[in-house]
Amino acid sequence: MESRVCFRMSGLLSLVILSVCFGHVAATFSVCKPRSCISGKATCLNKKCVCLVPHVWGDGTFMCYKQNQVATEVKNDPRLTTFNNESTNFPYPCRYLLTAVKQELKNLLNIKTGTCTIQVHAFNKRHNGKIIVYGYEVALKFEALLFSKSLSIITYGTHGKVTEGGTDNSYVTSGTYGNHLKSSAVAIFSDLIRNIYVKRYHLPLNNQYVVEVDACGFRATFVPYDTTLGLAQPNIPGLSVAINCAHHPQWLLKEKVMGLAPADAGGLTFAGLKTSYPGLDTVQAMLQRAITSGTLQSQPDASPKCSALKTAVDTCDKMELVKAYKLCTPILETSHLVKCISNNNPSTSNSDAVLGVFITCVNHFCNGGGQCQLFKSVYGNCNDPALKKLISAAACTP
Ligand SMILES: *[C@@H]1O[C@H](CO)[C@@H](O)[C@H](O)[C@H]1NC(C)=O
Repeated sequence: MESRVCFRMSGLLSLVILSVCFGHVAATFSVCKPRSCISGKATCLNKKCVCLVPHVWGDGTFMCYKQNQVATEVKNDPRLTTFNNESTNFPYPCRYLLTAVKQELKNLLNIKTGTCTIQVHAFNKRHNGKIIVYGYEVALKFEALLFSKSLSIITYGTHGKVTEGGTDNSYVTSGTYGNHLKSSAVAIFSDLIRNIYVKRYHLPLNNQYVVEVDACGFRATFVPYDTTLGLAQPNIPGLSVAINCAHHPQWLLKEKVMGLAPADAGGLTFAGLKTSYPGLDTVQAMLQRAITSGTLQSQPDASPKCSALKTAVDTCDKMELVKAYKLCTPILETSHLVKCISNNNPSTSNSDAVLGVFITCVNHFCNGGGQCQLFKSVYGNCNDPALKKLISAAACTP
């Protein structure tokens, strides 16, 4: 695997790249069955969606990036890619801080006039046996001489049912995000003097919901999950956050973000992360990081169990924690189990059932056993090898 680092560009070079980006590549829309390539950024070549110059990397069915961009992505079901371009499964049906960064605010002459503080939260939820990206929240703060402006924007939902809202003049650090910043205009905030255009729009060709601020080198793109088409949807659902390195990112809250910051800027690689969680693998370490981060579970349609996870894992000592994750993670990771557990508990919505069983499982291993009855009743109808293993490891007679 290759990883890209932010590099310093000369002002002239970035100006050229900036103008290419304003010139908007003529939209080429192509289909690489069953997927459609990202309009204007990729095309179908030899049955593969390949990114088009000036985009030089990325998945042409999801998002393409320029040379000077770094990105974090969460794709269904869900797979998280960090700013180090490392990927892992991330079966976490709750809310988390994806990235926090301070960028230079630049005017049309590419001169720094201030700063942009940017924070992106994302949230996942369950649908059938999958954990899908359900939406994202962007908090933006612009600061320049005698000038300050804040905006918080929320975008969430599934295909055909997407809500775009937010709160004006407020930088929401943790939650809850308001929902009244509605606007049909592309630029929901404009400041001509400082070249700030906060754009929020939908690109129907690829079903992308975008929040973009060129003057800050920031772009987030969300493709909602299609509950009807499922796997067959033409565009891969998920969330992409791209950061332009020409704006000299300062990575914030590095201990808390799930889109781990670039290692050359003091962020963690997966190997580095795992040294903080001895005995856990990458998936387990990322789950533990998310659960213990204390991120407010304020997303729309949040499962109350999202807030209960931390209490459960906090009761584990180091050895118990390793055992609990080893045996309980398949409950969140195994599509068949997620679906079965949820179907067996039809009174609960989205992630409640599967998180409830995960918590029960953690309690069993960290709180002196005693959950056999519950295990067996929830699992009764799920004929799954991972489950049988779990029941026997839990010292419960099947
Ligand atoms: C990220 O990794 C993929 C392969 O896993 C590679 O194709 C791509 O070029 C890499 N991107 C960067 C920016 O290094």
